Amino acid sequence: MSRIPKSFIDDILTRIDIVDIVDARVPLKKAGANYVACCPFHNEKTPSFSVSQSKQFYHCFGCGAHGTAISFLMDYERLSFPEAIETLAHSLGLEVPHEGGEQEPRDSFEPLHNVLNLADSWFRQQLKNSPSAIEYLKQRGLSGETAAAFGIGYAPAGWENLVSQFSDQQKKHATTAGLSSQRESGGLYDRFRHRIMFPIHDRRGRVVGFGGRVIDPEDEPKYLNSPETPVFQKGRELYGLFRARQQNRHLRQLLVVEGYMDVVMLAEHGINNVVATLGTATTADHLRNLFRAAPEIIFCFDGDTAGHKAAWRAFETSLTELDDRHQVKFLFLPDGEDPDSLVQKEGRKSFQKRIETAQSLSAYFLQQLTDRFDGNSLDSRAQMADFARPLLKKIQAEVLSELVSGEVAKRVGISPAKLLGGSKPMPIEHKPVRRARGARLEMNDIRLAVAALLAQPSLAGKVEKPEALAQLKHAGIPLLLELIEQLRGEPDLTTAQILEHYRDKPESAALHKLAAYEFPNPDNEADLLEKVFQDALQQLRRKAAEQRYAELLAKSPASLTPAEREEIQAFGRS
Ligand code: GTP
Ligand code: MN
Repeated sequence: MSRIPKSFIDDILTRIDIVDIVDARVPLKKAGANYVACCPFHNEKTPSFSVSQSKQFYHCFGCGAHGTAISFLMDYERLSFPEAIETLAHSLGLEVPHEGGEQEPRDSFEPLHNVLNLADSWFRQQLKNSPSAIEYLKQRGLSGETAAAFGIGYAPAGWENLVSQFSDQQKKHATTAGLSSQRESGGLYDRFRHRIMFPIHDRRGRVVGFGGRVIDPEDEPKYLNSPETPVFQKGRELYGLFRARQQNRHLRQLLVVEGYMDVVMLAEHGINNVVATLGTATTADHLRNLFRAAPEIIFCFDGDTAGHKAAWRAFETSLTELDDRHQVKFLFLPDGEDPDSLVQKEGRKSFQKRIETAQSLSAYFLQQLTDRFDGNSLDSRAQMADFARPLLKKIQAEVLSELVSGEVAKRVGISPAKLLGGSKPMPIEHKPVRRARGARLEMNDIRLAVAALLAQPSLAGKVEKPEALAQLKHAGIPLLLELIEQLRGEPDLTTAQILEHYRDKPESAALHKLAAYEFPNPDNEADLLEKVFQDALQQLRRKAAEQRYAELLAKSPASLTPAEREEIQAFGRS
């Protein structure tokens, strides 16, 4: 697949003004240095949505929504990243260039979408003509209405039924779209044969793939999915998401289940806020899509060993993706049941009662600790701390992180700082005066330095001896150094451009939060920022020196080299 060159994204962000982009959709009012409006991403009566022209960045102090002009279009108009770029480029009268690939038509995937659409309507037609397939769905408890709502179809038995529907031109695309396979002897054959077909829709409602279930229990595999294609990535798509959002634009909760039939059967019983991963574990991409769709995500798992394993994996992925605006919960079903069987057995009301009993992520985590470590002996408590530490460090949600760390520390019987092993935020001399509501930010020196750099990228040119910082062992240091180096090369980048460079990288969430950080004393901001920045670096250098000193002292005196001895003495003098 071709990529949009970074330089083009930089270029677009230089040419547009986020104030215009937002103002055209959400009228803005000038307020001090910024522009404000009532937030379009949550309900409010007084404006807490603020757009900074200098940073080219928006931030809502109410709900925490934030980002660049590109993110704004993605969230406000529900566009994908390339679509948002396309929109901005179009408004500037520019063509979006693509790297790595010959000249491509505007929508190079159009032929794939065409054959997929054709297959989709053909499968649905075939279902109408197949009494045995209809009978299978009926006997599973599915009404014709629900089957139609999900576009369920049927791929007849035989090898060339679908293939023969395509023109020679379309055949090539049918294979790329995963609908057919090449015979060794030449010619194509249908991938899906004698199966109930579940079309998979992307966020915009286009059919991008299929899942096919056998009707005949002897056939294998039970479920056959489309392979990964240019328009279908299993780690990204969620079955049922398009329809769930169609049913309700403001979903409060989304239930994540394992199977197609679970989604469809819950809908049959009036529960429409359900999606399924496509036979894969929940990925970070999935979670991001889920969080964009609803503030609360409930993972639903079978009560068996496999279900518990899957839950643990979803838990680990959630730790890094979750922020304080979202919630993740876990629901375990009785062993041997899935949502499909259970909702048929006990009905909608009881199933919904179960959903209400779902365990929060923190409760699940603490329960896991209790299950794994009895905590009766000091040794067991130490093991608990050891097990919990790396997981706690993964939690990105600031408030949640503090609450859970506090609770685990209590159980272990040590301080949260000790539990986290000394990488707690360092104390700062500088006191932030204003904190974003709902997006509390505990500042430390590294974060202050990064926030200052984001607010005023030219500060990077004023760093003396960045290498001294490199010695400091702290999770944030590599990012800080990377930013300094990058900005020394390109001192004119805006905050928004930096943020876009980190889109899809793990650092992105943290950078966005720091870009939203408001330094006190806006009247004199340029001077203040430099002072904050230099103070923070000074503290970090001191910290690096202390670490080094402690390291040297920890060595046995006999093993010290003369140079190291010299170093220790130098510390003594300073
Ligand atoms: P039913 O038997 O129709 O009720 O399906 P189920 O959803 O209960 O199936 P199961 O719990 O076995 O599987 C859950 C999900 O895993 C399915 O919806 C598929 O996405 C996936 N899956 C199950 N079996 C297979 C298989 O044989 N191959 C592949 N690729 N995926 C499968
Ligand atoms: Mn089932």
